[in-house]
Amino acid sequence: MKKLLIIGVSGLTGNKLANISSQKFKVYGSYNTRSVVINNCEIFQLDKTDKEKIKYKIMEIKPNVIVDCSALHNVDYCETHQEEAWKVNVEAPMHIVTLCKDINTRFIYISTDYVFDGTDNNYNEESKTNPLNYYGTSKLRAEERISNAGISYAIARTSLVFGWNPSELKGLKSSSGKTMNFVIWALNKLREGESLRIVDDQYSTPTLADNLAEFLLSLANSNQDGIFHTVGSECINRYDFTLKIAEIFNIKRELVTPVSSSLFKQVAKRPMRCCLDVSKTRQTLKVKSLNVEESLLKMKEQEEELKNSPII
Ligand SMILES: NC(=O)c1ccc[n+]([C@@H]2O[C@H](COP(=O)([O-])OP(=O)(O)OC[C@H]3O[C@@H](n4cnc5c(N)ncnc54)[C@H](OP(=O)(O)O)[C@@H]3O)[C@@H](O)[C@H]2O)c1
Repeated sequence: MKKLLIIGVSGLTGNKLANISSQKFKVYGSYNTRSVVINNCEIFQLDKTDKEKIKYKIMEIKPNVIVDCSALHNVDYCETHQEEAWKVNVEAPMHIVTLCKDINTRFIYISTDYVFDGTDNNYNEESKTNPLNYYGTSKLRAEERISNAGISYAIARTSLVFGWNPSELKGLKSSSGKTMNFVIWALNKLREGESLRIVDDQYSTPTLADNLAEFLLSLANSNQDGIFHTVGSECINRYDFTLKIAEIFNIKRELVTPVSSSLFKQVAKRPMRCCLDVSKTRQTLKVKSLNVEESLLKMKEQEEELKNSPII
């Protein structure tokens, strides 16, 4: 059986990928600060900026494919901690790329819609990049280097990833800088009856982590190189997205009020209209992109099952 190494298996995306990969791969996964248990996955601790340890583990496992689901992706934190963001988002993956070259391993890197400036509403893989913040810049620099490294690779650009993650449900803060994904955050607040002011002028293509994991597994099994837009199928603003969360989970929609993003002072600039076109991915990977309603309904179905899960 081929071997798959998932870096960041304690994260939302890594966890989902590990859970669907064991039929096709012998799965190994690393966490950094939040230890996890996943069926059929051999798990170990690894800080990906520790060059010696990462070399040792990769040479020991000799995976056929590595999917890097780890990053520093708190956008405001990256803006003020650029050296650290560079180490995690660019330097560490490039060290892994060098090792991949030595042992002929395929490398899958997850990038972001924030490589674009948000002035278009339908970016495809060929569209001109122009990141507005340091997080987007770090991801783009990694994309460029990986594409030119002479290895088998895929870059999966994604956006507003959400879903249930055992580590997040335990309230543990990830070293990625994220505590909770947007849907879980909004659900918690709305269920407590809290009113939410949500921006109605920032558009993106929200992506259920389970759907992203399907794209990544398909890329892991494929030998196609290049960039792929791996997102949900619907371009929507944050306010309408939050209304949909309330609707699907039977919460009063009146708790959600639209506001302009000029109301909030954020450290890093955000692209305003940043929706990704999934045509290439649909044709090449044969994985369906879910729309917002399909994604949230799937989350609702999973909720009871996950609450009763012994690993939460
Ligand atoms: N979330 C989004 O909305 C979004 C949007 C666009 C792109 N992306 C990209 O999608 C990917 C996955 O995001 P996600 O939301 O699934 O992430 P996540 O839930 O925040 O998990 C991040 C993972 O990275 C690990 N990590 C952080 N620093 C590390 C280090 N120095 N060494 C080793 N592991 C480290 C974390 O380990 P611990 O938990 O053990 O600390 C965790 O397993 C990332 O590349 C992110 O940039 C995410």
